[in-house]
Amino acid sequence: MKNSAVRRFGILTSGGDCPGLNAAIRGVAKAASGRYGMEIVGINHGYRGLIEGDARLMTEADFSGILTRGGTILGTSREKPFRKDEKPAERSILQTQSAAGCVDAAADNASDASYGSSKPELIANTIADLQLDALVVLGGNGTNTTASLLYSAGIPVIGLPKTIDNDIWGTDVSFGFHSAVSIATEAIDRLHTTAHSHNRVMIIELMGHKAGWLALYAGVAGGGDIILLPEIPYDIASVAASLERRRAAGKEFSIVVVAEGALSVEEAALPKKERKKARAAMAWPSIGYRVAAEIQQCSGMETRVTVLGYLQRGGIPAAYDRVLATAFGTAAADLLQAGEFGRMVTKRADSIGSIALAEVADRTRTVPVDHYLIGTARRVDTCFGDD
Ligand code: F6P
Repeated sequence: MKNSAVRRFGILTSGGDCPGLNAAIRGVAKAASGRYGMEIVGINHGYRGLIEGDARLMTEADFSGILTRGGTILGTSREKPFRKDEKPAERSILQTQSAAGCVDAAADNASDASYGSSKPELIANTIADLQLDALVVLGGNGTNTTASLLYSAGIPVIGLPKTIDNDIWGTDVSFGFHSAVSIATEAIDRLHTTAHSHNRVMIIELMGHKAGWLALYAGVAGGGDIILLPEIPYDIASVAASLERRRAAGKEFSIVVVAEGALSVEEAALPKKERKKARAAMAWPSIGYRVAAEIQQCSGMETRVTVLGYLQRGGIPAAYDRVLATAFGTAAADLLQAGEFGRMVTKRADSIGSIALAEVADRTRTVPVDHYLIGTARRVDTCFGDD
């Protein structure tokens, strides 16, 4: 194997956790160490570990048996090192583990940057102290935006797209998404039986941040009668009319799938700042409860709410995500070997490729209103609250 400029790299997981992270870590590590002889330093708790120098040399044993493990063996955080309003971090004493000495060496000559150094400076110090030739980061929009900034600052970085929201620009799919779709679909299946038994309208609120991918896919897979997405602002009168039509056809129960970022037409008409304020001030804990109250008020139908929450991020990865995460991980190892930095691994159509991190940064991939699945859903009488 030709010699790469990368002898040792750091790997971290950042942002919301999801099933598949460990499968991706395993893919990177087995390819990078097994095929390319690289050393791997695990950085704990995302970018916070990089700022604080919380890292350890990883061994073969760290990567075996983790393909099917949920969560992340490295831990994660939502640390944003370039966020302007942050105080400079204090550098914690490097927690050294018994290792081949690289981490101990780092501890010995850990730069004495402490009070007053900016977080990006502390990151650069950690990378120097740990003698890292590159960084591999697994994360969502925020993580890959930070990765792009680090690359612009001269740090060789490679990103992998991770999130249950599936809202990362440049790739058709991120790992974690299909596991969450499976979890949400199973929950919707369960709601069907109790909705039918009680002749109720069951509202299930799903994650997805500002995108509706999770609600759309799980809504179609679970046979949701009404699906409310951030991308299609809903008119509650249209929702109520759809429920009335079902009731007139003898269907006294319905399933309403609501993305956590779904908006009413009234909200969508507000300027962004006002919309945020209105949402924060609303009298319900989350959008699912508001939609339930609006339906009860409009139609008199009995409603109940399930907010699926963090169950969508827990547990073991679905088979699809194990495969995708492994493919992404090994592709990242190839980019390390080729010295192609400043890029994020992608899946487009049926091929694994990569895109410049600068193209991904600060962008979100939302559901196009002409996405084929919206047409599919409408053809099986699903209502999106807009007709
Ligand atoms: O980005 C993944 C995600 O689960 C979103 O769907 C959700 O809005 C957010 O993270 C929750 O953030 P936290 O884990 O910080 O509560």
